Amino acid sequence: MHTRVLTGITTTGTPHLGNYVGAIRPAIQASRDPNVDAFYFMADYHALIKSDDADRVEASRLMITASWLAAGLDPERTTFYRQSDVPEVPELMWLLTCVTSKGLLNRAHAYKAAVDRNIENQEDADAGVTAGLYMYPVLMAADILAFNANKVPVGRDQIQHIEMARDIAQRFNHTYGREFFVMPEALIEEQVATLPGLDGRKMSKSYDNTIPLFEGGPKALREAIMKIVTDSRAPGEPKDTEDSALFTIYKAFASPAETAAFAESLHGGLGWGEAKQVLFDRVNAEVAPMRERYDALMASPGQMEDILLAGAAKARAIAGPLVETLREAVGLRSARHTPVAHQAGAATPVTPKAKPPRLASFRDGDGAFRVRLFGGDGEELLLSVPFADPKAAGTLRQTLATLGGAQATVMSEGDRLALLIDGKVVATGDSYPDDAARADATGRLRAALDALASATAEEAAAKAAQASGQRP
Ligand code: TRP
Repeated sequence: MHTRVLTGITTTGTPHLGNYVGAIRPAIQASRDPNVDAFYFMADYHALIKSDDADRVEASRLMITASWLAAGLDPERTTFYRQSDVPEVPELMWLLTCVTSKGLLNRAHAYKAAVDRNIENQEDADAGVTAGLYMYPVLMAADILAFNANKVPVGRDQIQHIEMARDIAQRFNHTYGREFFVMPEALIEEQVATLPGLDGRKMSKSYDNTIPLFEGGPKALREAIMKIVTDSRAPGEPKDTEDSALFTIYKAFASPAETAAFAESLHGGLGWGEAKQVLFDRVNAEVAPMRERYDALMASPGQMEDILLAGAAKARAIAGPLVETLREAVGLRSARHTPVAHQAGAATPVTPKAKPPRLASFRDGDGAFRVRLFGGDGEELLLSVPFADPKAAGTLRQTLATLGGAQATVMSEGDRLALLIDGKVVATGDSYPDDAARADATGRLRAALDALASATAEEAAAKAAQASGQRP
């Protein structure tokens, strides 16, 4: 079983050593696990909530993309993309917005903190608060739910957002009567220590105590490391490694043996100036080869664009069909296939009960066994490939009866639709004149599969009830 792991990286600022040790390195490590299906993306719509400086948003997106790739993320085996290249995300966000209670958003920490600050400063409660900040949790829920992610690695400050995503998903499932969404879970890495910054507090842009990862080259790295605050013990005096930011940073980059040796030198009186040189050499040894890749990527942004667009195409292949199913579910359906409810002159509009879709098995002219799927209006939606063995046709019929629209892999094959099971085309549809017609037909096909699956489930439930002697 693959676990889908998904996380977003808000594209503000430049990555620093704290980001590398706390997020980039462990995430790349996790993505190499063969049981993990990793989705990592630039949360650039989220960046707009924090920054209205267009050039900085642009630069940050590039630098963060280059950093992750340079640090070893493999865009072939992961799905690596920009949030803003996946229009299904904001579309889903709106569908979710409409089932999200405003009260839930009132309780979001980030929004509440802004309100509390305003009240403290005797300003209007919502002064300076954009609707973007207010809606932040719903956008994040859409990020996660568009891909039905199982695990979401985040910092502690984001746990509430994952809980809200679960709430919203549950509300949607309940409202529209089906398990469209799986419940995502936050993944908090206990092992990954937060890296201290220059002043010993957590390394963070908001404390202005960061050490750059790649930007500025070895020179900037060295200069920052030389600014790490230490105590005033002179060379020759034994140093304390317990509360030393310098030592803690070293430890995050070195092997246990190297760390023990470094501790010994410090206890033995190594001067802080020399210790900083040792730290620089160690960090730079890990960073230098990545920096080379980083510089090469930054010099060819077109290459990054290609990688990101390929990533977005992979992401959309998953989010697209899901959002299509959701549109159906909420009633955003093609007019062409909606039965006419309003008859002119009719006193009360009656909705004719739509006929259910149906499956039909038959033998074709060559004696082979095949299955057809008809929509409720009689439209032929699928014709299976021929089977010599009637049992194989029966198995396919059973699969079609229980598959459900969201689970179906539907692709275009020339001007036709093809249904794939286990990677093989098992049935094709009629031919359609263009992409739009094929997309419409895909929606009808998924809706028909959904209707079949729920009819099959209902039948099974009725049978079970009968068997246990209850009245259905
Ligand atoms: N809000 C997250 C942060 O600031 C970034 C983010 C956006 C995210 N969308 C996400 C994280 C979806 C996990 C899943 O860290």
